[in-house]
Amino acid sequence: MYSVMKKKQRIISLIVISVFVMLSLVVFSTPSALKNKAQAENLSAGDDFNQTEALAKLRESIKGKEKEPAETVFKNIQTFKGRPAAQLLAIMELGYSRSLGVTCTHCHTPEDWSSESKNQKQVARDMAAMTQNINTQLLKNIKNINEKAVINCTTCHRGQVTPALNLPPPSPKS
Ligand code: HEC
Ligand code: HEC
Repeated sequence: MYSVMKKKQRIISLIVISVFVMLSLVVFSTPSALKNKAQAENLSAGDDFNQTEALAKLRESIKGKEKEPAETVFKNIQTFKGRPAAQLLAIMELGYSRSLGVTCTHCHTPEDWSSESKNQKQVARDMAAMTQNINTQLLKNIKNINEKAVINCTTCHRGQVTPALNLPPPSPKS
């Protein structure tokens, strides 16, 4: 009699515990799952900006002129004069947006890609000049390093608008 009671109690407490675990999984995982989804959408789509669509539209609009110099295909080219038009779009997608972890709208108002309405656009030109200066001047003046040593936007930005000053804290010793 006593052991049957004990068995029942154990089964009941097991049920109570598993219900509690299931509930807490639902409660604790949902907000962070939603947050991750929102972040993923922000990176790939902006608020209501669809980067994949925008790039497809731009590539369609320069069809047949991909290899022509960017300044003859686009309206307001200062940094990338002489670069093929298609290459400019590849730099925008992979070199700039991806390096900084942003979409096109960080530097552009997509209704007019040639507009200078966002300060970040000119900052990006100045950053490109700084990067070139480091590559062609400053690195060359350092003796005893790889003569092909080179940096780009990713070297500093690594997917973030503000480059890190510190490494993430070390993982706890096991
Ligand atoms: C970090 C800032 C930055 C980001 C992000 C960025 N761009 Fe640009 N974009 C520029 C700069 C700077 C220029 C001007 C380059 C020059 O002066 O040669 C430019 C020029 C352009 C032009 C030429 C416009 C014209 O008519 O003169 C197009 C088109 C363009 N970008 C598309 C894009 C697209 C599409 C994306 C997203 C995939 C993007 N950009 C992301 C900075 C950026
Ligand atoms: C040597 C390191 C370094 C390199 C290389 C570099 N950046 Fe930066 N960048 C910075 C720093 C530092 C800031 C200032 C961040 C802050 O606000 O504290 C910055 C800021 C920016 C900003 C302004 C961000 C904002 O919206 O506030 C843009 C845009 C940018 N960089 C674009 C670029 C692009 C494009 C390249 C490559 C052509 C590049 N950067 C290469 C260090 C670098």
